[in-house]
Amino acid sequence: MSNTKAQPRRVMLKLSGEALMGNLQYGIDPVFIGRIAEEIAELNALKVQVAIVIGGGNIFRGAYLAEGGMDRITGDHIGMLATVINALSLQDSLERIGVYSRVMSALKINEVCEDYIRRKAVRHLEKGRVVVFASGTGNPFFTTDTAASLRAVEIGADVMLKATKVDGVYDKDPQKFPDAKQIKRITYDEVIQKKLAVMDTTAIVMCRDHNLPLKVFNMNTPGEMVRAVTTDEVGSLVVSGE
Ligand code: GTP
Repeated sequence: MSNTKAQPRRVMLKLSGEALMGNLQYGIDPVFIGRIAEEIAELNALKVQVAIVIGGGNIFRGAYLAEGGMDRITGDHIGMLATVINALSLQDSLERIGVYSRVMSALKINEVCEDYIRRKAVRHLEKGRVVVFASGTGNPFFTTDTAASLRAVEIGADVMLKATKVDGVYDKDPQKFPDAKQIKRITYDEVIQKKLAVMDTTAIVMCRDHNLPLKVFNMNTPGEMVRAVTTDEVGSLVVSGE
């Protein structure tokens, strides 16, 4: 294979809830989640340890409903529960194709999944299990992007993979501006200064302060997740300036 690179040992994959909707307006598209599971299975077969943080926006958007008058903290709690639904669905899709996985929640709901315990999560990964982290950070006001950066740093991930609907980081919104240009490599500080919509600032700062490289890639292109991990050909890389 051309342009291959040293394979990371452990990755954190950040999936938005919307990624599970596929072509639907709401909820989970079984075909789409099945494809995501197949790609995760490919990474698992390559012996890459895969941890995942998943959002809940396909089911519930706390910030949006807060604008309509709902108490923000209640909204965020409902949003966290939505991520549990998505995590269990992804676990089911993974296990249907023979990939062992564990769901660990920042909120205690022992009847449906394990609590998040860092050392246990690392042990699961070392045993080749995919670990899906649910309930974000367990706190209101923090996004699931921030949860992904936090968990990635906690478990010692080598890279954060941010799945999006576009090919990487652009100088302006490529869905609005046809002349938007993709930036292949950029620093965390430039992303913050230029207010590029990669992840929220808290999440980017967490990556920057812990020197966690961030790869942004297109989840809608089949096979892109594996290529983003095994080659330098696709996506955009956010790194420190040095
Ligand atoms: P090791 O034996 O340490 O390799 O890990 P394991 O996850 O296989 O063992 P454990 O006995 O912890 O878990 C067995 C099964 O029970 C797994 O499917 C876990 O996900 C599940 N499990 C473990 N703890 C909990 C919990 O608190 N709540 C729920 N709902 N399931 C749990």
